Amino acid sequence: MNRIDQSGLDIGKIREDFPLLDTAGLAYLDNSATSQKPLCVLEAEKDYYSRYNANPMRGLYSISVMATDAYEEGRALTAKLIGASCSEEIIFTRNASESLNLAAYSLGSFLKQGDEIIISVCEHHSNMLPWRAAAARAGAVVRYLEPDASGELKVEDLEALLSERTRIVTLTHMSNVFGYLNDIRALAGAAHRFGAWFVADGSQSIPHIPVNVRELGVDLMAFSAHKMLGPMGVGVLWGRAELLEKMPPFLTGGEMITKVTLDDCTWAPIPHKFEAGTVNAGGVIAFAEAIRYAERIGRDKMALREQYLTDLAADGMRKIPGVTLIGSEKAQDHHGVLTFHIRDVHPHDAAAIFDADHIAVRAGHHCAQPLHKYLGVPSTIRASLMFYNTEEEIGLFLETLSTIRERMGCPKIEE
Ligand SMILES: Cc1ncc(COP(=O)(O)O)c(C=O)c1O
Repeated sequence: MNRIDQSGLDIGKIREDFPLLDTAGLAYLDNSATSQKPLCVLEAEKDYYSRYNANPMRGLYSISVMATDAYEEGRALTAKLIGASCSEEIIFTRNASESLNLAAYSLGSFLKQGDEIIISVCEHHSNMLPWRAAAARAGAVVRYLEPDASGELKVEDLEALLSERTRIVTLTHMSNVFGYLNDIRALAGAAHRFGAWFVADGSQSIPHIPVNVRELGVDLMAFSAHKMLGPMGVGVLWGRAELLEKMPPFLTGGEMITKVTLDDCTWAPIPHKFEAGTVNAGGVIAFAEAIRYAERIGRDKMALREQYLTDLAADGMRKIPGVTLIGSEKAQDHHGVLTFHIRDVHPHDAAAIFDADHIAVRAGHHCAQPLHKYLGVPSTIRASLMFYNTEEEIGLFLETLSTIRERMGCPKIEE
């Protein structure tokens, strides 16, 4: 177990960068839902709106050019962050859900009756419902890959589902319930051997571990800025340039064409073909600042710190009678995502007690209802960590957790 913080980060100092951590008066342990934002990110957005707010790509005057340059710099930084071949491979959307809808609508337009899409039971609804809709439009069939008890999606199980009918495989890199980091490189390799496209949902992985899309060998990958220190309202879809060039647009309208006549039009080159209408320039500029901030801290150090905090929390949870952690028994497989249930206690009651003790955790199905049904539980509680969380916060969480059964009037568990 990693009981020593090897990150070398000065967390006290880092927390001064996050206004909410100081003022909200709570232990924020709902980072998988959205992360907190450092002041420099908030200021970058304010700076854009106060000094050079103009519609990017549309004006020839100076502040519009400044807005365009800053927006495109955000695209270049995002490309570098995930190892894209070029900036044109980055499409900005509103969130990961919209990125996955774009992928499903556009890639789904190539499907024919009887083709198959493979999704896992673990997927967030955002990487399940858009593909089901695409399958329904084409008369294609959806097949489901099941996880093992740790939450791992295994290559051999995928291979058992793959056939010459499979056109698309879409899987989560890291489940928002298990926190397990899937071997996407091997899974994508298997899909490619059958000639299928591979789409990865990186919503939970990219915020927490360094990811290189080319090394993973996937075709499309989606994530959101707001889970990685950036603002809400910015999503990313990365795609291999040759594939994006073939894919039809999702939304049509302003800025995504080169020519329109009354009976014809030609699409703009990528990425603009996929960015119809006025873009979220302030959001992308703020996201660029979030990337710079994370790089100043060191993404490897952030991951080390999160692993240390995960070990601390998982170890404490194991010692509390009646608490069951969902997924792997090894703390290092959880990557800061600790989903659990408490015997005889409804997750909403537990979340209310945590809230009364000023601890923010999530209760419910975490937008993964089919997975909860598969696990045989209607809902769970989730504590999710970020590098800026402290040992004290983990201690408060464990202290409250150890009192919940008693506070709910549940009988003592004899060990
Ligand atoms: C694994 C996973 N996929 C997709 C999403 C959707 O992200 P967003 O709400 O930013 O669209 C989430 C959000 O929680 C997620 O955890």
